[in-house]
Amino acid sequence: MNLCEVQDYDDMSRQAAALLSAWATETERPGIVLPTGNTPLGLYRELAAKRFAKVLSRARPIQLDEYHGIARDDWRSLGGWLHRDLLAPLGISPEAMLRFDPSAEDGDREAARVESAVASMGIDIAILGLGPNGHIGMNEPGSDFASTTRLVTLTPETIHSNAVYWGGEDKVPHHGLTLGLGTLARARHTMLLVSGAQKAKILAAVLDGPISPRMPATYLRTIPGAMLIADRAALAVTRHQGGFSRRAHDRY
Ligand code: PGA
Repeated sequence: MNLCEVQDYDDMSRQAAALLSAWATETERPGIVLPTGNTPLGLYRELAAKRFAKVLSRARPIQLDEYHGIARDDWRSLGGWLHRDLLAPLGISPEAMLRFDPSAEDGDREAARVESAVASMGIDIAILGLGPNGHIGMNEPGSDFASTTRLVTLTPETIHSNAVYWGGEDKVPHHGLTLGLGTLARARHTMLLVSGAQKAKILAAVLDGPISPRMPATYLRTIPGAMLIADRAALAVTRHQGGFSRRAHDRY
């Protein structure tokens, strides 16, 4: 894994946009895995700015994860969120995104559909955030590094941290659909974005602890070209010293 230390959230977002746009030019229609959450919002704002406007317009967006057991048009669905807040303002049609159907009756079958679509289109770029328990997408602790796209049960920790969007823990769906770690490992390029003091301990565990499914994000340490872009606050606890670049991309 390559490590890039940046000043703060805005710096992370700008550097991520520069790197993403460089990677995206390698392919005519790059398949790009997009996460939700607070972490990528700054990157998405950058991508809406003029100089990066073309990056996503010719991409094939791929949804990283989704709740299962809610209506397709539920405004809290992650696919709806990505469409409303990122793709629609860029004039990208909903059909352009490879999206999970959160209302699919048979979650296993829905996961298999997405896995096979991803396998045939390929992932050019995976953009990822880090969960408070080390999860990647909805690959919760215990997820096999070879796991494929599947129906998962959310941990109490994830349900707790998502409760704010749902108006209480009892309202948060208990299941989700997620690209697997093995699915993500096949991406040509991967970037993990981490910002803020609240992520410092978990990031230290990811960088300094054993590589293990107990800490799903450690699969990234087995991916030689993966890029971690983290700000100073997030890197405050790791014992990892040196080897950090200051620029995720030299043309930034
Ligand atoms: P965050 O969420 O970007 O809001 O911190 C990341 C995650 O839980 O995967």
